[in-house]
Amino acid sequence: MDKKLIIANWKMNPQSLKEAMRFFEVAGENAKNSKNVEVVICAPFVYLNQEPKIKNKEIKLGAQNCFCEGQGAYTGEVSAPMLKNIGCEYVIIGHSERRRYFGEADEFINRKLKAVMGARMKPILCIGEKEGEKEQMKEILEKQLAEGLKDIKPNQISNLIVSYEPVWAISTSGGQNCSTDYAFSSSLVIRKFLINSYGKYSGNKVKIIYGGSVDSGNAAAYIKETKMDGVLVGAASLKEEEFGKIIKSVAEIM
Ligand code: PGA
Repeated sequence: MDKKLIIANWKMNPQSLKEAMRFFEVAGENAKNSKNVEVVICAPFVYLNQEPKIKNKEIKLGAQNCFCEGQGAYTGEVSAPMLKNIGCEYVIIGHSERRRYFGEADEFINRKLKAVMGARMKPILCIGEKEGEKEQMKEILEKQLAEGLKDIKPNQISNLIVSYEPVWAISTSGGQNCSTDYAFSSSLVIRKFLINSYGKYSGNKVKIIYGGSVDSGNAAAYIKETKMDGVLVGAASLKEEEFGKIIKSVAEIM
């Protein structure tokens, strides 16, 4: 059976390298005896070159963003090959905060996704409807998938992860409870789209995970009751003990 994914999104935290190193170490310790889970930490760029110093290599590293071009005159940007070259395996693309604060549209997200795939890393494509859009959830997810995955072929999607994140459920933008039934119906929309677009074999290979106020009390339920492949954890991933409990609860599912 495939490992369940637990992906931490630290966002713009913590404030010092010292704290980041402590978080890496503690998460690594917690992941040590959980062979059936893959723990990924998506840290700010400035902490991602620490991989050789992380004692316990039980965790994988991911970025929270990257640029769509490989190199050149793009002041302030970081490319997918740069991330690959420092040992990064995953990149979050199209997070709702990037869409909201930096105006990232699906077409731009599609170019970033291609860059991540081109660098042979695993893209975590975030999609989800906003508050007030629940009635159109299906149409919105299908549009974000169609445009985000434009021109991507079936043989390119085996490393793709789609993270369903209803924006209204994210702790810092509403934090409403998303029932497992609702999350399940959204995951079915996503799976159906993937199978229709890429065929049963390739469409079923894509991992679908859930994000939005995940904590140690609900992480296992989101996976068990929706048959999703993991969780993306924001705020709770910055609380050492809580994140440890999330890893333990997911490891105990199988
Ligand atoms: P949250 O964040 O777990 O704090 O709701 C999730 C996310 O924004 O990815």
